[in-house]
Amino acid sequence: MQYTLNQESITTIAADCLVVPVWKDGEPGDDAEALDEASGGALKQVAGSGDFRWKAGESHLLHEPAGCAAKRILLVGAGDPAEFDAVAAAKVLACGVRKLLDGNIRHAHFALEDIEAVFGDGGWLAARLARETETAAYRYTATKAGAGPEPMLESLSIPSLGDDPAAALARGKAIGRGMNRARELGNLPGNICTPEYLATHAKKLAGEHDSLEVDVLDEAQMRELGMGCLLSVAAGSVEEARLIVLNHQGGGEEKPVVLLGKGITFDTGGISLKPGLAMDEMKFDMCGAASVMGAMAAAAELQLPVNLIGMAAAAENMPGGRATKPGDIVTSMAGKTVEILNTDAEGRLVLCDALTYAERFNPACVIDIATLTGAAVATFGHEANALLGNDQQLMDELLQCGRDCLDRAWQLPLWDEYQKQLDSNFADMANIGGKLAGTITAACFLSRYAEAFPWAHLDIAGSAWLANGARKGATGRPVPLLMEFLLARADRN
Ligand code: BES
Ligand code: MN
Ligand code: ZN
Repeated sequence: MQYTLNQESITTIAADCLVVPVWKDGEPGDDAEALDEASGGALKQVAGSGDFRWKAGESHLLHEPAGCAAKRILLVGAGDPAEFDAVAAAKVLACGVRKLLDGNIRHAHFALEDIEAVFGDGGWLAARLARETETAAYRYTATKAGAGPEPMLESLSIPSLGDDPAAALARGKAIGRGMNRARELGNLPGNICTPEYLATHAKKLAGEHDSLEVDVLDEAQMRELGMGCLLSVAAGSVEEARLIVLNHQGGGEEKPVVLLGKGITFDTGGISLKPGLAMDEMKFDMCGAASVMGAMAAAAELQLPVNLIGMAAAAENMPGGRATKPGDIVTSMAGKTVEILNTDAEGRLVLCDALTYAERFNPACVIDIATLTGAAVATFGHEANALLGNDQQLMDELLQCGRDCLDRAWQLPLWDEYQKQLDSNFADMANIGGKLAGTITAACFLSRYAEAFPWAHLDIAGSAWLANGARKGATGRPVPLLMEFLLARADRN
């Protein structure tokens, strides 16, 4: 998709479609007013007809409006200007874009000035429009012969808004593309998207950007390093584990931010086998790793002036003759022993050795992203990312970033009192903490491997995919949150 700026007056823009927001009760903004005048009242006739309430999500298409250079005008409801906030803005943009993509429209112009006048932050609107356009245009086709037609939309223009609208558009586009990359990897089935597939994907990505370098550790190298926990997860699978490390060098000598994603390409539970119902969803158990790929790609595309390491701990969790069994004790790279009481608590096992490996990068901070616990889904549903960590300043930053981009996180306590749930009679710790507070005890386990740096943990088990409905599939979260965080760092550099 091409994004451009167009400062012509709204009546002379020769687009296939103009998207024009209308406030509740058909109140026109300045753009709508101008178009109405030119067209001899065509807009107000519809807007004021009483047929629509112009809530966000409602829309109506006018063909060949008189006196206007555009072929169509899409009126989109914007709701009550007094209540017009970021959530409402995102809805209006998404709704307008979806209608454009459904139509026979190649070149469109989104009249954003009226909502900018109310909302204020033009840069945010421009970036969000580009992001929504990219994500709305995404279609999963990789394994479908009968995939529907591609959207026709080729270019979208906006008026010049904010300080640097071109940069805002580029930012939004990169974030949207990063989300789509994460969605595609998440949506691919486990028999295609294996640890080796993720490694190849990372290598390809690194080949496309000068700022990116890639290093992939195989099982022999991990054995050499003593990554007994990570390897114990892959033991039952014919698919070899991979530790993928992408390096984006953009910030001179500063310490890097490390993003670490859980990359379980399929989680059967292992010998502690999961029940069959909805087990297919466990192909999404690599969405943390996918979000790291998405964010790394976006950071490279934008040539962000930050140093960034993107890691993915990739393995398949399967039962089998060589699989790890409940009661088995393995030794982590950090030297601590772990009693595997449940082979379905595998995410923390791949992550703990990767966290130890991250120490060698002398990180400014480490953020891990993982579909780690069913308890996070029970607690937060599909809305919030669960956030825990050992550094309140880092977590406050992430909480704020989440509010700013609407990919919100909510903090849970990581109090010492919870740590004792991991006590084991036979090893330094157990890999599960019992029935209660599952999201917290999983983070407790990780915290023992994150003492060398400021660390935050995002449990995205609820936010990474939708299990039902027309939008079933990976969401691309938390790429927006990660990018908001990285962009804020880049701004400070
Ligand atoms: N990948 C799952 C977590 C998960 C489950 C995410 C359902 C989304 C939906 C993880 O590996 C897992 O199985 N966790 C167990 C841990 C338990 C055995 C302590 C869980 O949450 O049930
Ligand atoms: Mn599991
Ligand atoms: Zn898992």
